[in-house]
Order: sequence, then C-alpha cells, then structure tokens
Amino acid sequence: MFKAPRGTVDILPQEQAYWGFVRDKAEIASRLYGYQRIDTPVFEKTGLFYHSIGAGTDIAEKEMYTFDDRSGDSMTLRPEGTASICRAYIENGMHNLLQPVRLYYLGPIFRYERPQAGRYRQHQQFGCEALGDEDPVLDAEIIDMACNLYTSLGLRGLTLRLNSIGCKSCRPSYLEKLREYYSLHDKQVCSDCKIRIERNLLRVLDCKEDSCQDTINGAPRISEHLCTDCAAHFESLKEYLGFLQIPFELDPHLVRGLDYYNRTVFEVQPEGEGAQNVLGGGGRYDGLIEQIGGKPSPGVGFGTGIERVILNLKKQDIVPPPAPGPEVYLAYQGEEARKEAVKLAGELRRDGIGITMATGNKRLKTQMKQANTLGMIRVIIIGDEELWDNSVMLRDMEKGEQKKVARGKLASLLKKLSF
Ligand code: HAM
Repeated sequence: MFKAPRGTVDILPQEQAYWGFVRDKAEIASRLYGYQRIDTPVFEKTGLFYHSIGAGTDIAEKEMYTFDDRSGDSMTLRPEGTASICRAYIENGMHNLLQPVRLYYLGPIFRYERPQAGRYRQHQQFGCEALGDEDPVLDAEIIDMACNLYTSLGLRGLTLRLNSIGCKSCRPSYLEKLREYYSLHDKQVCSDCKIRIERNLLRVLDCKEDSCQDTINGAPRISEHLCTDCAAHFESLKEYLGFLQIPFELDPHLVRGLDYYNRTVFEVQPEGEGAQNVLGGGGRYDGLIEQIGGKPSPGVGFGTGIERVILNLKKQDIVPPPAPGPEVYLAYQGEEARKEAVKLAGELRRDGIGITMATGNKRLKTQMKQANTLGMIRVIIIGDEELWDNSVMLRDMEKGEQKKVARGKLASLLKKLSF
C-alpha cells in the first residue's frame, strides 16, 4: 500500500478551515501593507540556491531535493522562497519599476529535514519581500506585518528576537575575533561546528546542538562590532519598532540559517518553544540580488510556515470560522423525484445557490440524518405530491419546521433566507 512520503501530509477537508483562515489573514495583511502576489516555479536551477542561501549552510549541504532533469541540468525543488523572488525581480526587469517593489508569495517549500511536530519535508510558506530600498522603515514594516498577521489570527505570547549581523565591510573584522575565540574553544564544539569553523564560520552561531550552546553564549557579539552605517541602521529600526509599539528582545547570537542575510535578522518565537520551532523569521539581504547576477539592489523580507502557524493556533485553542459550503441539502423520494431533483439542483446552482444532493436509494429518514450531520441549514424535499403540484417541501433544520413552496418561487426565497 502506498503512503504519503515521510515528512509530508495530506491536508484533509476537516483541516481546510484552518488553512483558509491563515491564507485569508495573510492576504488581508499583504493588502494592508501594499504587497502584491507573485508566484514562481517550485523548482529552479540548483546554482541559484548555492549562490544565494550559501553552499556551506545546512540547507544546501543536507536538505535540498536536487535532481538532474532529462536534459542533464541540475534542478532543485525550492528550499525557500527569497532566492526565487530575487531571480524573478532581475529576470523581469523589476528594478525599472518604482522602488521598493513589495511582493508576497504562498506556496510549497521542500527541505529534507528530520520530520517532527511542525517540521516537514514539504511545508507551505507565506513570505513577503520588499526589494530595491535599504530604508530601515522597510525592516520595521516587514516586522510589523509579521506581527500584525499573528495578532489578527489571535496568537498570543510571541517573542520577537532581533539582531544586526553587519555588512561586508564590518563583518570580516568581527569574524577575525570570532575565529580567535573559537580557536581557544574548538575542543568543546560538535563535529559539525569543527567543519563550520573551517568553511563558514558565522554558521557556528546557528548551531542547535546543546553541547555548543555554552560556547556560543561566550562568543563575541557581532552587534558590538558594527560599522557606523550598520549601527545607525539598527538604531533607526529599533526606534521605528518603538513607534509601532512592537516589543522585541535583542539576541546577540541570532544569525539565522541562510548566508544571504546582512544587517537586520529576526525571528518570532512562540511561548515555550525552542529555537528549532520558530514561527517565522526573516531579515535584510542587501547583497543577494547582485550575488545572483542583478544590479546591486537591497532587500528585506520574512517567511512563516503555515503548518507551524496552525500548530500554534491549535495549542492556543483558536478555532477558525467554518469553511463556507452549501447550506441547502436536496432530498427526494423515488425514481421520478430523483430525476426532478437532478434538474432542480442544476437550476439552483446556476442561480448561485450551493446544493449538496442526496444520492442512491436511501430512505428519506437516512437522507435527513445525513443533512443533519453535514450541518445543513435547510433541506428541500421532493416526493410524489411535490412532483404532482410542481412544488417542493422546504425544511428549516434549526426550527424543525417545514412548508410547501412553489418551484417558481424557490430560488428567490432561498436567496432571501441566506441574507
Ligand atoms: P526560514 O527561517 O528558513 O526562512 O523559514 C521561514 C519559516 O518557514 C520558518 O520560520 C518556519 O515557520 C517555516 N519552516 C521552515 N522550515 C520548515 C519545515 N521543515 N517545516 C515546517 N515549516 C518550516 C526562510 O525560508 C527565508 N526565505 C525567510 C525570508 C524571507 N527571509 C527574508 N525573506
């Protein structure tokens, strides 16, 4: 028997109310802040990800779904959204538009990770990117939008962690200090960090191994080694977050798991969760577009996994509004009535009235039970008598009352009742 691949799930109809709820709120937030939807392919040339998220990151080294297509070109299922958005920005000449260009996306992301609660090999991500402007107003806007989305969903007890990781002019001297420190502490770190020290030093700060945490905590702090421009950018961001009344905690060791970030990085963490299960995160990536072949254009953005948002909604007992569906059930008694019911269902649906129709030769009592289980508000019944006088019986399920209605008046009555 076939099963869904490990780390993937079917999103069943009973879960769809949660998904609709989160998607709707994400779209409302995007509109509120002036972000326009963009959809990019779910796979890209592998090189795009090596040149953006960084060849030495866990994602590029261990988690990408990479394959050769039939022409022998190496392709990768996107392990995140930002690189594709930047590729689309360059390819579609968006630098010629009025800057910043504000975009959002919602779609599947693929990472070969160890599956656990809130961690999948295919997850859905909502992300926003503001491209072409380095104003810290945009960093504040992106963070505000993330917070606004979570608040509009009713989520409570979230912590915003914030850091600045400098730029290409101030980071090298910081890395020297970090290297000095790790050369004195390299015995205490995990085997992955030993490799990181050689290949991609900043990544040691992103290690999640318990055995490395004390070493990380004692490490020099990048935020104390920022150049004047980066320090001023960070100060402005903090000031704007104050204006927006967004509380934050400074986390001097937050670097995030992707190499393209500079200056601002942030994560939103639910109560009682470790750094592994952040709800959403993002930051600034001013060198990325140039790095993948575009004209130098700054950018800032964030992403949040829908599954993780839903997990937290459930933990906090937040129930989404039910997904809208037909409120009217069409029942019949006998073969002739069934034919009439098929015609009537067609007419009503074309008139914009949702109908769930009975099927087979179930007794009327069974059909009524089914309507009840489905939560139908009204039931239309066609039997011999209704066939004969061209009417229907219309039952109000809540009141338990029913009345005869002429076929010609049914549609307008149902429309009136549904308002
Ligand atoms: P990320 O932190 O790797 O950032 O992922 C963003 C969010 O996606 C996470 O906070 C989490 O909610 C969700 N997520 C990541 N991996 C998984 C997984 N395996 N299962 C379930 N959910 C997951 C990025 O991807 C950046 N592109 C965000 C960004 C946009 N930065 C700037 N712009």
